[in-house]
Amino acid sequence: MNSIHIVILAAGKGTRMRSARPKVLHPICGVALIDRVLEAASALGPETTTVVVGHEAARVRHHLGEKPQLFTVVQEPQLGTGHALLQAEPVLKDRSGTVVLLSGDVPLLTPATLQALVQAHHQAGAAATVVTATVPRPFGYGRVIRKEGEIVRIVEERDASPAEREIREINSGIYAFDLAPLFEALRGIGAANAQGEYYLPDLVGIYRRQGRIVTTWHVPNANEIRGINSRSELAEVSEMVRQGKNEELMAAGVTLVDPATTYVDSGVEVGPDTVIHPGVYLEGSTHIGSACEIHSGTRVVNSTVGDRVTLLNHSVVTDSTIGAGCSVGPFAHLRPGTVIGAEARVGNFVELKNTALGDGAKANHLAYLGDATIGERSNIGAGTITCNYDGARKHRTVVGKGAFVGSNSTLVAPVTIGDNAYVAAGSAVTQDVPADALGIGRARQENKAGWVTRRKEEVNSEK
Ligand code: UD1
Ligand code: CA
Repeated sequence: MNSIHIVILAAGKGTRMRSARPKVLHPICGVALIDRVLEAASALGPETTTVVVGHEAARVRHHLGEKPQLFTVVQEPQLGTGHALLQAEPVLKDRSGTVVLLSGDVPLLTPATLQALVQAHHQAGAAATVVTATVPRPFGYGRVIRKEGEIVRIVEERDASPAEREIREINSGIYAFDLAPLFEALRGIGAANAQGEYYLPDLVGIYRRQGRIVTTWHVPNANEIRGINSRSELAEVSEMVRQGKNEELMAAGVTLVDPATTYVDSGVEVGPDTVIHPGVYLEGSTHIGSACEIHSGTRVVNSTVGDRVTLLNHSVVTDSTIGAGCSVGPFAHLRPGTVIGAEARVGNFVELKNTALGDGAKANHLAYLGDATIGERSNIGAGTITCNYDGARKHRTVVGKGAFVGSNSTLVAPVTIGDNAYVAAGSAVTQDVPADALGIGRARQENKAGWVTRRKEEVNSEK
């Protein structure tokens, strides 16, 4: 077996992005460019994977983390793609096999294309195989120059003659190389071109002059090799990925009322018969069950939603879990650590944070429940507030099962309301309420008979 070594170029500044964030860390539908490339590359079962970093190297390295057989090498300064690949020599010098060179900014390559590339490369017994594509607008790409059908060299946009610029077959920036002659040949690349950079595509001309075999693999779907150099290209490619995801969801039985305005990240799963209305955002590692209804303006991030859940308009759900058959919103805010049991109700202008709401419990209007545990079937009245923060520390509020907290109560944590207990409306609860008890924490009402009449007489007599 011939081993595969992946090298991903990701050292460039990405000048045209005009961003403080390294280009390869920009996400498309929730997944960073570099992670998309790594994911496709992993299908080849590589022996090693090397990422060439440079601009904001520490940030890219931090993002990549530590993984077995994943290496990073630093290219400093960044003198071009040929110079970039040369930096991988310390990792690859005592190895053999095939190098598959990928670009950190070409995120849509499929495993099938990479497999086809490797196969074509091996069949041709080539020193280099270039992935090419034919595109309607080749502007900005390196053009493939052929003689008698064979690739002889690649010329960059800025160095191309007007006639060469007419060529629509372009270099994708993806290649397979035989490792044996590679690094010596790379040292032969010069920088006599419009950008004064060491161009990796120059290797094609060098190999041809040395009489080595260079071949091409023409990718049928040119969209796959779309490179991202600007925000505008980022948006175009994101749109393609998003539409693909929406098609996938619809094919799996999800109704999208308006796919054009439905934003679902690549890592999201949605069950069949769920209906998603326009302007919904499902992000990160979100799982939505089947037969749910998600109304307009709702955003769900890294959360798990059970079957038959209704999320009404303009609700925001982050790092939370919602049980089957619940109804949430409109205008509900479920912040991190919220866990809602089955068949529970969370109504308008209710905010939950780090709070468990038991099966069948209700908080239907205008409440803040933070750092709380609410037992099953309990009812939290309108305007209930947990005072979970004393200015320095957070404290928990515990409400038992089947309890009833009257409207406009303030529950000053730490405090416990027992099972089946009642809290009178308007109470400031500072002490525990035992199970089955009624807690009243407010001044007793007093009515002063005839007070208004006497007041009016006083005012009149002063005139
Ligand atoms: C490159 C190719 C071009 C091809 C196009 C496909 C060269 C000279 N040109 O052009 O033929 O059509 O890709 O998308 O290779 N990088 C480094 N270090 C450097 C320079 C670049 O790591 O010193 C990395 C970048 O971060 C990027 C990749 O290499 O991930 C490609 O560089 P970029 O500047 O985008 O090359 P293009 O102009 O797109
Ligand atoms: Ca590029």
